[in-house]
Amino acid sequence: SLDISSLTRQTGLITLDSGFVNTAATRSAITFIDGDKGILRYRGYPIEQIAQNSNFLETAWLLIYGALPSASELGAFDQRIRRHTLLHEDLRRLFDVLPYNAHPMSVLSSGTSALAAYYQDALDPNDPIQVELATVHLLAKLPVMAAYAYKKSIGQAFLYPDNSLGYVDNFLRLIFGTLAEPYEVNPVVSKALERLLMLHEDHEQNASTSTVRLVGSTEANLFASVSAGINALSGPLHGGANEAVLKMLGEIKASGEGVEKFVERVKNKEQGVRLMGFGHRVYKNYDPRATLVKESADEVLAALGVKDDLLDIAKELEHIALNDDYFRERKLYPNVDFYTGVIYKAMGFPTSMFTVLFAIGRLPGWVAHWREMNEDPTTKIGRPQQLYIGSPERNFPKR
Ligand code: ACO
Repeated sequence: SLDISSLTRQTGLITLDSGFVNTAATRSAITFIDGDKGILRYRGYPIEQIAQNSNFLETAWLLIYGALPSASELGAFDQRIRRHTLLHEDLRRLFDVLPYNAHPMSVLSSGTSALAAYYQDALDPNDPIQVELATVHLLAKLPVMAAYAYKKSIGQAFLYPDNSLGYVDNFLRLIFGTLAEPYEVNPVVSKALERLLMLHEDHEQNASTSTVRLVGSTEANLFASVSAGINALSGPLHGGANEAVLKMLGEIKASGEGVEKFVERVKNKEQGVRLMGFGHRVYKNYDPRATLVKESADEVLAALGVKDDLLDIAKELEHIALNDDYFRERKLYPNVDFYTGVIYKAMGFPTSMFTVLFAIGRLPGWVAHWREMNEDPTTKIGRPQQLYIGSPERNFPKR
């Protein structure tokens, strides 16, 4: 690797790397990816083993603090998060005044940004106690705010969290429970959702995590940085892809054109038509998360007794694409989002909530990276160079 900053100082040389395809912006000890071999590890542990043996909060701890927690550390962490699930009442009312038909991602980022207004004792990046408090506030409150964004969109009353429930069960109750009757969490849904959230917890320097780090490099607080990350995640080429996949599958079904015709349109790059949920900047072999998600798709739909044509269309699309030279030559494989939408739909989530689920999953990674950046004495404010291609100096007309 090359230390570009000293080279730039000495020579004035600037590298142009659109999309940061070959520029490392940081050193990081959190997540390892080998895109050619399809390897993903959190703090050295393979994602397959994490998915099999861990849970959401334990993995969050691992990402944030660097090692697996002891049983008592994890218990205390869980309790502390449960104690912080309530929103300040005024903040809860913020969700009342936002438009009911707003996209839940904009509602979630607004709420996250507003945390900085309500929890001013957790804003100082140079005070470890405040950083710890901001971490707990975010982990505790993001699922609650996500549920309020959803309840608002369907015109139902917000529920208060039930802190006797675990992290995922509490969230499911806030989403699907009502004031009218008690809500029983379906253990199949809970287990599968926990697994999906775990698979999303970190993915090194993706666009939203890089955004969180960039904003954090200005010494902006953790809430402001994470809210920027949520906005970065909302784009269809990043977290918005899971929503786009389901939309695409629905359109293929409604058009009746058949999967092969659709694939032809993708290959002809008709009006920029892409196979959503396919391709990845880093994975050029397969996305190990996609393999795990596909297993979950079959399990969840079978357990819930849901038969969904869209899953059949997705499988047919995958089969055709994997055997087609266009996709093979470009090393395009299903990514983590190809099957998540079908599972979320079977669980009862509306399409507009899919990216919100991704945000809940990704939160520990954002926090871990922000803290790693914040604790690193070599961190500088992020400030890319540019190559100016505009007009040379000219005189402004005299008036
Ligand atoms: N469908 C069809 N063709 C594709 C697709 C796709 N999904 N993805 C890439 N290609 C083609 C491009 O047209 C290009 O072809 P060309 O060389 O003939 O011009 C070639 O493959 C390389 O594509 P790039 O856009 O240069 O690849 P890049 O690494 O920049 O993009 C990305 C990665 C954004 C993920 C892209 O594959 C894509 O748009 N996929 C669909 C959206 C999606 O699923 N995003 C989720 C990403 S994962 C996540 O955020 C969790």
